[in-house]
Amino acid sequence: MEFENADIISVNQFDRPDLERIFSLSDQMKEIARGKIRNTLLDGKILASLFLEASTRSRMSFASAFMRLGGQVNSTTGMTFSSMNKGETLEDTIRVVEAYSDIIAMRNPVTGTAQRAADIASIPVINAGDGVGEHPTQALLDAYTIQAEKGGVDGHTVTMTGDLKYGRTVHSLSKLLSRYDRIKYIFAAPPAFQMPDKIIEGLKSGGFDVVQTDDFDGALPESDIIYSTRLQKERLEGGDVGEEIDTTFQLTRKKIEDLCKKDVTVMHPLPRNEEVAVDVDDLPNAAYFRQAEYGMQIRMALYLMIFGKDKQFF
Ligand code: NCD
Repeated sequence: MEFENADIISVNQFDRPDLERIFSLSDQMKEIARGKIRNTLLDGKILASLFLEASTRSRMSFASAFMRLGGQVNSTTGMTFSSMNKGETLEDTIRVVEAYSDIIAMRNPVTGTAQRAADIASIPVINAGDGVGEHPTQALLDAYTIQAEKGGVDGHTVTMTGDLKYGRTVHSLSKLLSRYDRIKYIFAAPPAFQMPDKIIEGLKSGGFDVVQTDDFDGALPESDIIYSTRLQKERLEGGDVGEEIDTTFQLTRKKIEDLCKKDVTVMHPLPRNEEVAVDVDDLPNAAYFRQAEYGMQIRMALYLMIFGKDKQFF
């Protein structure tokens, strides 16, 4: 895809060469992300950070990544503090915000909002999570984590567990991994929290090996990557309870030691509840805090590509 001035709304936008380009630039962002090398390529640019849903990590990661490249950030958080709470339409909000900034990163509880904003805005819009829809930059940083931790993405068995129904990170990641070869997907969740059929059908028609199970422990021995997610309590509809995500589907140190491959990689988009026990944190297999660091590099790479400032790195 052409990245300059592009909106980033869905992982469907990326093909494999795009991923390789983003990851190669992300590799080069490491020292800048850590503040060891100063960079001012985005000097004079303003990011509008519109987060109308709870967030610590993504919001701060989007902002810090922009600031590490010399840009500035103007933000609004939560419905309560935004004029949309006074009945302002998305259309009006975007028209106003684009007059104050050069790029928008937005999170909204309603699926499809990022696309609507992108249709209105004359500046690039990055989807930072739209309800149960997508979270494309999280999927990029997840795939980048697999590459960094495993030395490559192809040929791995990836077990996604937890709330696969309402979790947008697993929706985006499972689609993005279909850009790679010989991925085996295991979706281990209580039946009421399984991956939406549409995603399963897409993967199967792409020729991927897909297993849906409620036997989490049974899936562990063959997993190269375990990607755990919390119950999305704020999105539950009907009678779904999902308490077994914190019990039967909980990953513990004992399960890793007794059931998993020695080099299994444990990932989680965070925040976590009980689904990954804290006794896992000290194991070298626990990649979730490194995963958050990789996210800075990914978002920096995307900003540079969107502003056409990436040429000097290739
Ligand atoms: C996730 C999200 O917002 O979808 N968090 C994140 O971006 N790191 C996962 C979650 O909220 O459970």
